[in-house]
Amino acid sequence: MGFEIVLNLLWMLVLVIYYQLEAIVKFFIQPSRKDVSGQVVLVTGAGSGIGQRLSVEFAKLGCTIVGWDVSQKNLNETSKVMEEETGKEFYAYTCDLSDREAIYKTAEKVKQDIGRVDILINNAGIVSGKTILKCSDSMMQKTMEVNTMAHFWTLKAFLPEMLERNEGHVVTISSGAGYFGVPGQVDYAASKFGAVGMCEALHQELQHTGKTGVNVTCVCPYYINTGMFEGVKTSFMPILEKDDAVARIIDAILRNQYLLMLPKMLYLFAVMKSLLPTKALLVVGKYTGVNAAMDDFIGRKKVD
Ligand SMILES: NC(=O)c1ccc[n+]([C@@H]2O[C@H](COP(=O)([O-])OP(=O)(O)OC[C@H]3O[C@@H](n4cnc5c(N)ncnc54)[C@H](O)[C@@H]3O)[C@@H](O)[C@H]2O)c1
Repeated sequence: MGFEIVLNLLWMLVLVIYYQLEAIVKFFIQPSRKDVSGQVVLVTGAGSGIGQRLSVEFAKLGCTIVGWDVSQKNLNETSKVMEEETGKEFYAYTCDLSDREAIYKTAEKVKQDIGRVDILINNAGIVSGKTILKCSDSMMQKTMEVNTMAHFWTLKAFLPEMLERNEGHVVTISSGAGYFGVPGQVDYAASKFGAVGMCEALHQELQHTGKTGVNVTCVCPYYINTGMFEGVKTSFMPILEKDDAVARIIDAILRNQYLLMLPKMLYLFAVMKSLLPTKALLVVGKYTGVNAAMDDFIGRKKVD
């Protein structure tokens, strides 16, 4: 091994220790929140659940909110809530995120109507909740299109302008299912693993190319009480409260945190997953009830 390589490895080790210590300090003394007032936030799937709450809460922080959703009815509902809680305008666009051309067209319209987007939140998601052979081909395809592929197209539409300014924020609402595969989520987990992988590679790519002003946040929550996972049973960890989850997501974005797992226990599971043998993990899945959680899944009824 050449002298230069050894020197580089030693320097890398010093930096790894430094950043590990920094992470410990940041755990106790969190970095300050950034000011986002006046910024444009685009939220996909803004018509319901997490997307609706993120829209309203970012509006309260002084942001202009652009909401996309396939359901006009849901968008109307968010407009109503926005008006009641903030008195602010909600710029709503119907867009089917499983349609690449519709995404590009809607993005162009947003650029003409509003201008640049500062914070892009890829939040929209769907779940079939079916075991692999019971899930239709078209449903599996749609899950991949909405939960994963749509992120590519929104990025292609809005990232160039962020790169030009070396400023902006890309947020991926993935899931705990983006780290852990459980029964009844074969297609969903595939799509969410895809979103996590995309987010991780994008983050590395931005750092590698010097675009460190464009922040990336990857959110991986456990079940949240929005109705999306109606019927899910959890004996081990309680289902998260929507408002609490949204407050934590906003906090992570404002502190430019890269990875947010909710609850914190998921970080421990991620470590366990890397260390334990597969058979031990199967036992953990069985005795925590996690593997049976989707057995009585109902989910959302089809949106209008
Ligand atoms: N709820 C949970 O337990 C949970 C847990 C972890 C991660 N997540 C993720 O959080 C995100 C939001 O979930 P939620 O619970 O708020 O769901 P939700 O069902 O309440 O809201 C999703 C919204 O996305 C919209 N949508 C669906 N398909 C669309 C399409 N093709 N084009 C455009 N919009 C579309 C729906 O109309 C709806 O308004 C999803 O990505 C989900 O996978 C949810």
